[in-house]
Amino acid sequence: MNITSVFKPDLFTGKVAIVTGGGTGIGAAITQELAHLGCDVVIASRKEQRLKEAADQMNANPNIKGRITAIACNIRQEEQVKNLMQSVVKEFGKIDFLVNNGGGQFQCPAENISMKGWSAVIDTNLTGTFLCCQHAFREWMGANGGVIINIVVDMWRGFVFMSHSGAARSAVDNLTKTLALEWADKGIRINSVAPGTIYSETAAANYPTDVFSASREVQPTGRLGTPEEVAALVCFILSPAAAFMTGIFASTCSHS
Ligand code: ADE
Repeated sequence: MNITSVFKPDLFTGKVAIVTGGGTGIGAAITQELAHLGCDVVIASRKEQRLKEAADQMNANPNIKGRITAIACNIRQEEQVKNLMQSVVKEFGKIDFLVNNGGGQFQCPAENISMKGWSAVIDTNLTGTFLCCQHAFREWMGANGGVIINIVVDMWRGFVFMSHSGAARSAVDNLTKTLALEWADKGIRINSVAPGTIYSETAAANYPTDVFSASREVQPTGRLGTPEEVAALVCFILSPAAAFMTGIFASTCSHS
């Protein structure tokens, strides 16, 4: 993959980032641009083998300057989240950036969602994000500062057939604002990023129907966004160019 970036080369040299869900889709694009700009990136998700393969594949790209390392972590499990943060501090000496991108949902009319399905989506997207923020704070950022980005979705005016995810992501946006206030004096910035409708093969494979064609028609831009466009926004917010930006949500093109 030919990685390009509008940012200056080596912008993130010497920095350490954790990207949950960093092996696929938007997370992989974020990981690759960060690493292209010199950042060491730890990608974390549940399936260790797939994660390692993704890291190996990305590291093989000559455009990558930082090192990409895979650490398995189920963000729903507090002990595993604590272990992730401790392992990164032990191996890399710090955590400069945390990108909470790991999450998931399934399409279902609200009236048919089971308790199991509801809880799984809330636990992953809301509680998992909270746990990552809390343990990044406890293990490093509380004493040293850092930057956190919570990836949400374009759920501002409702999220049809995704009531669980819309509720969880909206809650994450509010959590973002609260943590920005609570942690501002610790040198921590925390913002949320809401990608508009972004086409990635991972996302397409996740849905039983072609959700992207219909969506393309209602885009004011006439096209869907790309994972690379989300990655660029994330890199901007992590960079010193956004040094006084906290508690904000930023969106790539919204059609709501
Ligand atoms: N991506 C989707 N679900 C996840 C989970 N439970 N832990 C980490 N990454 C995930």
